[in-house]
Amino acid sequence: MKKQTLPKLPYSYQELEPAISARIMKLHHDKHHAGYVKKANAALKQLQTEQPNYKQVLKDLSFNLNGHILHSVFWQNMRAYQQNNAPTPTVKKQLAKSFGSFANFKQSFNKTATSVEGSGWGALLKSPTGELQLMQLENHNKLFLNNFSLVLVVDVWEHAYYLDYENNRGQYLQNWWQVVNWDDVAKRLAD
Ligand SMILES: [Fe+2]
Repeated sequence: MKKQTLPKLPYSYQELEPAISARIMKLHHDKHHAGYVKKANAALKQLQTEQPNYKQVLKDLSFNLNGHILHSVFWQNMRAYQQNNAPTPTVKKQLAKSFGSFANFKQSFNKTATSVEGSGWGALLKSPTGELQLMQLENHNKLFLNNFSLVLVVDVWEHAYYLDYENNRGQYLQNWWQVVNWDDVAKRLAD
């Protein structure tokens, strides 16, 4: 695997306000995500040495490379804050088909993400046969089970919201819907 690079944010740090502050975005992208990229590259470099410590390399990649991948999708899954942010009619229909209604989907997604124990992610995944599934990802792990693809992910590590919301993860999630990039979700659903 080639050297990984930190992707640029598709918006400025402050454009997600008031859902997510520029302060959080800057720290989250420039420090946390950059750290995962750096450590993933160090692990990939280890693989090219004569006697890699495979156990350690796999552990490092599982955490840091998956962290890099998840954050890269998370940034694209968001866009500038919109008061009346809503999914495209096609996406709304697709979600309603799988979850009964769009409101049900939103409620289930929030429940999945709110109840992650400790650090992790709430995720909407698509199976190879096109079925949609909500899942919790602990830390950065459990990715790519059975070739599921990431459609919509939300970071619920404390570093993603604590500076703005303290321990109120539920409020963070409620406001987060105003920055969901439904065009990106539509693209991932269609892929
Ligand atoms: Fe994060």
